[in-house]
Amino acid sequence: MNPQPSTDAALANLLERARQAALHSYSPYSGFRVGAALQLSNGEIVTGTNVENVSYGLTICAERAALVSAVSQFGPAIRIQAVAVTNLNQAASPPCGACRQVLSEFILPDAPVLFPASDGLRTMAFSDLFPLAFEMKSK
Ligand code: THU
Repeated sequence: MNPQPSTDAALANLLERARQAALHSYSPYSGFRVGAALQLSNGEIVTGTNVENVSYGLTICAERAALVSAVSQFGPAIRIQAVAVTNLNQAASPPCGACRQVLSEFILPDAPVLFPASDGLRTMAFSDLFPLAFEMKSK
């Protein structure tokens, strides 16, 4: 493990990596080109983009594409310490509910999440963005 502080420079770099990933978007149906970048506790950055399908519901969001790639490359012990999401459409795109639930399995609660909101770029701690994840713990 190699925890790194989430400095402004590190988060700006993460956002740029997300933007680069969005250039690879396969989004012929919506035209909405999304990129996500995950800063892992092991020092690695993993990116993903949205991959759409003609059967619309099979579309994979950028955040989940990045997460699946991260686990595939580095194994299930990964921890996410920061997330950046962006799109090339100059629109708001906070991570969707499904992606928040999936991220919750691997992300540190205080991890900053950067995303474009209607009032500009916003940063929120993951636990504020998604306070009550589904879990299966007995009472
Ligand atoms: N999308 C993402 O990539 N991430 C989200 O959190 C929400 C939506 C994608 C899915 C689809 O390709 C396009 O944005 C429009 O919904």
